[in-house]
Amino acid sequence: MAQNTHRDDLYKRAAQILDINDRGHYTVPTSGLYPFQWNWDSCLVAIGQQHVDEARAWTELVTLFEHQWDDGMVPHIIFHKLDDGYFPGPEVWRTGRTVPTTGITQPPVAGFAANLLFERAKDKDLAREKAGHLLQRIDRWHEWFFRCRDPHGTGVVALIHPWESGRDNSIDWDAALDAVPTEGLEPYQRRDLQHAHADHRPTMAQYDRFISLVQHFRSLDWNNEVLHEQSPFKVVDPGFNAILIRSCNDLASLADALGEPEVAERNRARAKAGLAALDSLWDERLQQYVCFDRVSGKAVDSASVGGLLPVFAGVPTARMESLAKRITTLGEQVNYLVPSHDPTDSRYDGKRYWRGPAWLIINYMIANGLDRAGHTELFEKIRQASLKLIDESGFAEYYDPKSGEPLGGDTFTWTAAMVMEFLRDNAS
Ligand code: GLC
Repeated sequence: MAQNTHRDDLYKRAAQILDINDRGHYTVPTSGLYPFQWNWDSCLVAIGQQHVDEARAWTELVTLFEHQWDDGMVPHIIFHKLDDGYFPGPEVWRTGRTVPTTGITQPPVAGFAANLLFERAKDKDLAREKAGHLLQRIDRWHEWFFRCRDPHGTGVVALIHPWESGRDNSIDWDAALDAVPTEGLEPYQRRDLQHAHADHRPTMAQYDRFISLVQHFRSLDWNNEVLHEQSPFKVVDPGFNAILIRSCNDLASLADALGEPEVAERNRARAKAGLAALDSLWDERLQQYVCFDRVSGKAVDSASVGGLLPVFAGVPTARMESLAKRITTLGEQVNYLVPSHDPTDSRYDGKRYWRGPAWLIINYMIANGLDRAGHTELFEKIRQASLKLIDESGFAEYYDPKSGEPLGGDTFTWTAAMVMEFLRDNAS
């Protein structure tokens, strides 16, 4: 009984957070630090919104795709309303859109989210209408990835900016970022440090490179036909590709359900090629996947959570077993799974953003993949760790995986959405 009341309270608090950050047709990750619509935040948040309001959940995705570019890209931020508390805003990106957006993308969870909303929908008519509307658009985004970010047809796509990964300052990008020139960098003023502790955020040297890349792409008129070839930063991230593969497969299932066999076939083929190519990123020594730097032509020696995310894609059983072992070992080194970087690495930093902290969205995707592969115990361990973090530290942006300290922004939307999902699993 007490247990149930506690669960209800958590659930209510999560619903409240979704509400507080709801701007009507889109949701902000948290006010202040992130006052706009973020791409993968929205897709994961829609999954939480479906718990309380199905129509609102579809709106979140539909709004995102209203801002899809003509070439098929779906941008990483949509600046619905100007807010000078954030840098870099539209005046830096200058992408020329009526409603301004950035010029890069983010992890494509939309295929996964749309299929999940459809499968769970109670209002089937609404679901058919909205999923039908989204299907072609998500398919075009997937097509864009392989055309513009894998122009040589390897099967896996590259990121041209660390922000595309969603894991902004991961150790994965250090070496590749070092090689990004910063000559001609215009003076700028960060705004994130007004909202969060400097020790919990990316460094100045990283920011200089983040902004230099934006300036460079801007000088190329955001033309995606040339950006990949002309970018000084080009990294293949196993985590990002795993999400793309899962979304392709899930979009194929959605297409089957909607009677669109050609869309299904195309997306299954993309997923199959992606899975085959992903294997080239396996690191025998680390027993996990690692990034590949297309500029230097070298594998990146960095054991980040990006290399564990392939469990979400549904990799072959032997790989899945090895990754489950890796995650189990990490669980012996921290108190709260899953750290975003291996704590035994000297570069690990348990408080700095994507260089160590645990994030609930990552936990959710990893747990989902493990569950599907039958690793129920490990799934349960991650679910418990995630809920314990919320109990002890509230709905933060991210957490120190050893102390559980809440870090970054608070009242965080996708954290709330993931809590609803973890509570749901308890209920089933
Ligand atoms: C940070 C995160 C990114 C997220 C955004 C909004 O930039 O690194 O993954 O989408 O915040 O929450």
